[in-house]
This record gives sequence, structure tokens and C-alpha cells, in this order.
Amino acid sequence: MRREGLYVLLLVIGGLALTLTSVAGLENGLARTPPMGWMPFERFRCVTDCVKFPRDCISERLFMRTADLLVSEGYAAAGYKYLIIDDCWMEKERNAITAELMADRERFPSGMNHLSAYIHNKSLKLGLYHDIGKRTCMHLGPGAHGHYSIDAKTFANWNVDYVKLDGCYVNGIDLNTAYPAFGQALNRTGRPMVYSCSWPYYQNHPNFELIKKHCNLWRFADDIRDSTESIAKIIFKYFKRQDHLTKHVAPGSWNDPDMLVLGNYHLSYDASRLQLAMWAVLAAPLIMSNDLQTVRPEIRALLQNRDIIEVDQDPLGIPGHCVLMSGNIQVWLRPVMPTNNIGVRSFAVAFANIGDYNECPLCPQTFRIILQNLGLTNQMGYTAYDLFDSKRKVGLFKPKDQFTIRINPSGVEFYKFKPEDIYPLSIHFASASASASASVFATISAVALTLQFNYSL
Ligand code: GLA
Repeated sequence: MRREGLYVLLLVIGGLALTLTSVAGLENGLARTPPMGWMPFERFRCVTDCVKFPRDCISERLFMRTADLLVSEGYAAAGYKYLIIDDCWMEKERNAITAELMADRERFPSGMNHLSAYIHNKSLKLGLYHDIGKRTCMHLGPGAHGHYSIDAKTFANWNVDYVKLDGCYVNGIDLNTAYPAFGQALNRTGRPMVYSCSWPYYQNHPNFELIKKHCNLWRFADDIRDSTESIAKIIFKYFKRQDHLTKHVAPGSWNDPDMLVLGNYHLSYDASRLQLAMWAVLAAPLIMSNDLQTVRPEIRALLQNRDIIEVDQDPLGIPGHCVLMSGNIQVWLRPVMPTNNIGVRSFAVAFANIGDYNECPLCPQTFRIILQNLGLTNQMGYTAYDLFDSKRKVGLFKPKDQFTIRINPSGVEFYKFKPEDIYPLSIHFASASASASASVFATISAVALTLQFNYSL
């Protein structure tokens, strides 16, 4: 009896520990790299009149057409897998009997299960918008308030893979408890769903330590618009808070600077490059908002640039920092794979020309930098690759070498610097004595430390 009592006690303690862990942390194993996909809001907003605007209205036709194009135009193969339905998909009120959410019956006549199956049959994933408050931001549909469990179950029944949870109409609601509670309701369904939270955006002093525990990604800035100014504003916001924002990023937890707006009306080719490079350096989700049917081929090529996507999706999951700002020029560094033979990392480096601070804001700018001043101190140097032009050989640069570029206005140059192997190490392994070994390692760790130190500057 005593023994059984002990087992019961252990089981209870074990169960409690398990419950506490699942309550304390998200760890849903999802979004190990920043999610990639498509979302309509910036481009299609909340158009609900399908009679007047059949191509633009938020309807199953738009999502089916986009699912087809994601695949046929090569985006899905490049990694853009999440097709996320933003606001304005719901009926104005819940089902009067079951209290369940319902998709708008006129614009989604086949129902959400049908659309979900259509999307999954194309090996894509389905995302759905909701709001933690009393109404969605466009006020067209009910928010989740008071219905977390039932809404999470509805999403699971529709085989949703990703939930974007906004934070409008939250008077009297404590976001620091509401967002975790909705996340737990999602977890309880047993269906893995990426959890995208707008939580910090709606707070003056967000607790990122808490947010990171409950969300896979989180918005921290205003809604993006189709303009260079809007992109610059978001970058500056990140810059001002970068020490804070970057601390909480890791595989499974990402800052979300909002959608990619390449392929719409207002971005120049250079500004399109700028947004893409900067989002990759920040380790941001790459969620396009555009009409895939009208994206010009050169912009489609940018969006599908495998080298840049590889930077964005780098498995280390370390976000970039701005390490230098001088006039219009900003230099952003992100440590990425691969490493050399002693573990020194590569860097993706974006040289951005943003703003209008100098006497010729609309001119290309020449920029020169000695590499070691950026923290690139690998003794054997780095091979530089132009991430926008994989065929261009840029060359080998030693830490004391000067790197010189011209950067177009509202544009960017984006390079990957791969560290060369350090050969004395292999020579040493073949022949040298144990004491020589110690000194080689001392030199190497000094190099690594400098790199670390310079980088964190
Ligand atoms: C908020 C969000 C946007 C979009 C709209 C929809 O503004 O930040 O991304 O989801 O709501 O209403």
C-alpha cells in the first residue's frame, strides 16, 4: 500500500510538472525557421463586395487562385508554404446555437473545410486570422473573447496550421494572460498550429520574455504599407530597440516586421531588393502580400532568390544587428552558416542606403570599410559572394582589406562573407608538438573572441 501511495504521489508530481511545463512554454516544435508564405491584407485589405470586385474580394476564389499560383509560379518550391487568410473571412456573428465561428457564406460558399482541403492538396499550409478581443480589427467578425476553447477546436477541425492572433477591441482584457490562454487552448486541441501574436504591438512595455514563451512570432511595429518610407520606418523601429528585440529570437521564436510588399505598386526595383535583404538579415518571416498573378518577372526572381532565402532560413536562427550607421548608410550583420574548420561563422552583410540625410539623398553612395572594423577578423580572410548575383565573383578579402561598394538610393548591396579555413591547424595536427597545439588553439580562440566581441558591439 505504501509503495502504491508513493507511485501515486510520483505520478501526481510528474503530471503536475508536465502540466506546468506545457503551461510555461510554447515549444510546439514549429517555425524552426521563419515562416514563409502569403497573406492578403496589405494588398487586398478588406474588400467584401465580390459583385463589384470579383478579383479582389476576400473570398475562397482569391485563396484558391493564390494557392494555384504559389505552386505554378514556383513560390511553393522556394519555401512559401503558408497561405494565410487575414481579416474579413468571418460571418458577422457566431452560430447562434453552437457559438462557433463561421466563414462568410457568400464569399466562402464551399466552406472552410473545402478550402482547407484544396490548400492541403497542393502541399501548402493554411493560416487563419483571429483576434483576442471582442471584434476583429476591421470590426466585421467576432473576436475570440470568451470563446478560446471553442475557437481553437474549430480551427483544429478545419485543419488550420497557423493562427495570426490580432489584438483589437481589448478594453478590459489583460493581454499578458489572454494571449497565453489562447495559446494553451490551441495546444489542447493536439493539432500543431504556428502561433503568430500581435501582442507586443498593442503594449507600451511588452514583456518579450513572456511573449517568447507563448508565441512563435510576434509583431512589433505598425502595419506595413506599400512604400519605401514604411519599410524604412519599420527598420528604424527595429534599430532603436535592436538589443531588446534580438535577445528573444531563436528557432521557433521570431520578430515579425510584417508582410513583404514587393510586387505591388510603389517600390522601385532597388527598394524591393532593400526590403527582401533587410527581412532576411532580421531573420523575419517572409510573408508576401501581393497579387501573384501580376508580379513582374524580375520581382518574382527576387522573391525566389535561393541565396537570400537561405540567409533568411539560416538554421542558427541568430538575427542581425545594425553595427554601423553613418549618414544614409547602415551596415547590418547576421551570423550564418557555414562555419570554417575552426567554427568561425559566415556573415550575411547588408549595406543599406536609406533615408535622406546628406546633400544628395537621391544619388548612389560610395561606401568603404575595412572588414575588421565590422568584426570580420578571420585571419585567412573571407570569400565574398554577391547575394543578388550568385554568378559574380567578388573575391577574397583579408580582415585588413578595404571593401568598397556603390549603393543605390533606397537600395542595398547584400553579401555573404564565408570564412576561409585556417590551415596552420591541419599542418599542426600532422606534425607539431602538444605545446604548439596549445598556442594554435590560443590564437584561434583569440580570433573567435574578437569576432564575438566586435559583433556584439
Ligand atoms: C491589423 C493587423 C493587420 C491586419 C489587419 C486586419 O491592423 O496589424 O496585419 O491583420 O489588422 O484587420
